[in-house]
Amino acid sequence: MDMNIVLLPGDGIGPEITEQAVAVLKKVADKFGHNVTLTEELIGGCAIDATGKPLPQETVDACKKADAVFLGAVGGPKWDNLDGATRPEAGLLGIRKELGLFANLRPAKLFPELSSACFLRPDIVENGIDVMVVRELTGGIYFGQPQGQEVRDGIRYGYNTMVYNEDEVRRIARTAFEAAMKRDKRVCSVDKANVLEVSRLWRAVVEEVAAEYPEVELSHMYVDNAAMQLVRDPNQFDVVVTGNLFGDILSDEAAVITGSIGMLPSASLNKSGSGLFEPIHGSAPDIAGQNKANPLASILSMAMMLRHSFNLIKEANAIEDAVQKVLREGYRTGDIMSDGGTLVGCNTMGNLVVERL
Ligand code: NAI
Ligand code: MG
Repeated sequence: MDMNIVLLPGDGIGPEITEQAVAVLKKVADKFGHNVTLTEELIGGCAIDATGKPLPQETVDACKKADAVFLGAVGGPKWDNLDGATRPEAGLLGIRKELGLFANLRPAKLFPELSSACFLRPDIVENGIDVMVVRELTGGIYFGQPQGQEVRDGIRYGYNTMVYNEDEVRRIARTAFEAAMKRDKRVCSVDKANVLEVSRLWRAVVEEVAAEYPEVELSHMYVDNAAMQLVRDPNQFDVVVTGNLFGDILSDEAAVITGSIGMLPSASLNKSGSGLFEPIHGSAPDIAGQNKANPLASILSMAMMLRHSFNLIKEANAIEDAVQKVLREGYRTGDIMSDGGTLVGCNTMGNLVVERL
């Protein structure tokens, strides 16, 4: 397969971790006979320094032409005095919008090798955690109209509107069912259908989509219960699909139970199946340039790219297996050292994964 990929290494630890993720990608392509074309572009602080803008037009054009985009991280203290649209983070928001990314996939995976770093009870996490939160990203209460503040009869009001149309629900539901087909074939749709009208539509449309996927088991859960169940027994879930607001909260909750920000990848997809793949952590200015960063979140983001944008399941699994092997052998970057092991730097961690492939 030919893969045309744009790399946006960005700032801070972004370039270091991108380098390791790319080495892994190249090794997989080699091993499985794929052809990867890589183009590097600027985003964030480095783009501001070079062009005055966090998201140069050249970057947007290249990303739109690519089959998939990989992003390291953006931002850092150097640009903290800039405001609003001129900040590095504006580049990230901009590219998400330009690419029409409506689905955010955040796996909360705890490798059993790291289970002692998790604060949940040992008997709950001894086999690790593996949950995928699929969050709708472009609709719901963050964007619904009307929204605003006004004074009526001398009293101040503030309001937002949670609105979804059936097309928006259908496409995020399909994304979740497609993801479930590549996993344990279970989808839990999270809503507040006991109170919210918009949730009743959500639920009805998800049921319709479920009919297209007879192999996948669908359940529904109210969001308040889901928040509780995620920490009580995370492994009852395979794929969780939900709207923008509920997904914002639940994906952070799911991430924190796994313990380390340096381990978690993410994917954001658009309707053409292309997407942006990035670790969930930021640019970690405190450790940037010191060969201390954990490259595994980035390496695992490459695995998500292969699985979700290119449907290369064997290749994605090979990367995840190699990561697990390295962890089982006891190699750790500083952020995952809590249970001891052999301390290695960013480069060595990347090399080890490449070798185990
Ligand atoms: P951060 O995720 O960069 O760092 C938080 C803590 O986690 C730090 O102590 C850092 O050293 C550690 N950490 C993060 N990634 C790690 C890794 N791969 N290996 C080992 N340790 C790691 O979040 P923070 O400090 O809030 O933000 C720093 C900068 O990053 C800010 O400018 C922020 O705006 C930006 N940021 C960018 C994001 C992105 O590009 N998607 C996301 C979050 C923050
Ligand atoms: Mg959030």
